[in-house]
Amino acid sequence: MAKLTEIDWDAFEKLPLEAKRPYLANPELPNTPYHTLLAQQFDRDLLERLAALANRIRFMAKSKEGALYLKSLLPHKRAMLYFSQPSSRTFLSHLAACQILGLTTGSVRDAATSSEFKGESREDSIRTFSSYFDMIIMRTPEKGLAEQMAWELSNSDRPIPILNAGSGKDQHPTQALLDIYTLLRSFAAKGGLCNRTVTFCGDLLRGRTVRSLSYLLTNFDGIRQVFVAPKELQVPEDVLDILRAKGVQYAISYNLREAVSLSDAVYMTRIQDEWDNSKGESARIDTHLFKFGEDELKLLPRDGIIMHPLPRRDEIATCCDHDPRAMYWRQMRNGMWIRSALIAMTFGFEKQIMCFGA
Ligand code: CP
Repeated sequence: MAKLTEIDWDAFEKLPLEAKRPYLANPELPNTPYHTLLAQQFDRDLLERLAALANRIRFMAKSKEGALYLKSLLPHKRAMLYFSQPSSRTFLSHLAACQILGLTTGSVRDAATSSEFKGESREDSIRTFSSYFDMIIMRTPEKGLAEQMAWELSNSDRPIPILNAGSGKDQHPTQALLDIYTLLRSFAAKGGLCNRTVTFCGDLLRGRTVRSLSYLLTNFDGIRQVFVAPKELQVPEDVLDILRAKGVQYAISYNLREAVSLSDAVYMTRIQDEWDNSKGESARIDTHLFKFGEDELKLLPRDGIIMHPLPRRDEIATCCDHDPRAMYWRQMRNGMWIRSALIAMTFGFEKQIMCFGA
């Protein structure tokens, strides 16, 4: 079993993403993550186990007996939520997931309120959290910081797991987990997720949720991926390289209506102008053909679904919100259940929860 304590940082950083997977696993549990940093850590077996565990937690949380049992699992653990980028859903759903499992939590949501303001490095700040907490859930604008901190903590005298709650433009693995969970649930009674067409639309260049979900979908046979975006924001080559290497069918398109009519799931995203290189750069891009409204709803197949990682602006018209195919509100709530499952699994409680009441 590969260990982060047996590889130096430079060598680890240079590994292809899939080769990093064994280093991030829990050496004591089969196919179970310890640090969760990359979509590349998840295969179909693990995704389906997480979905089953999330379903189980969802069901147990409905009864007082089940909810109290879940709460009794991790009261001896504390989680630190370190979010140096804005967040509503990812922050709150991780917080709620911790509450469901009985973990207590602390948070920093603005580096200006921590000793980073006095010049402490981000690395030292995170090392400090590990003195008081048993898990760090972190969102940062810096690509690779979560990986670096996972390596550093694993090589410290206080190793604790790190969950990447969004890093730079590159990865948002727990969002991809809730997206896959939503897709699995949506198609469970309709023949399953394999052989579906999933269309991504919006800012595909800078959307980390797209990069992570596109990868996770490659775990399911026969899924065709369609990328619809203005040419300035089309899906980057590194995403397509992975699809080509895995023999996944994909298409680049500029015609949302045509793509919608052929899709099982349409995954809309907002323009990520926080990553603009110059002020107003995104506003100069013509995006009017890349919005989902009443006309697109009419074209969506009867069993199709509309997804969005949220927050949205105007890329999905609010008139779509009450259509039964609009899945984005349920998708958001699914985040709480799948993140509960991930945290429970990380601390080794998968079997115990799955056996509850058996
Ligand atoms: N989907 C998502 O990451 O939302 P927040 O930025 O609100 O966490």
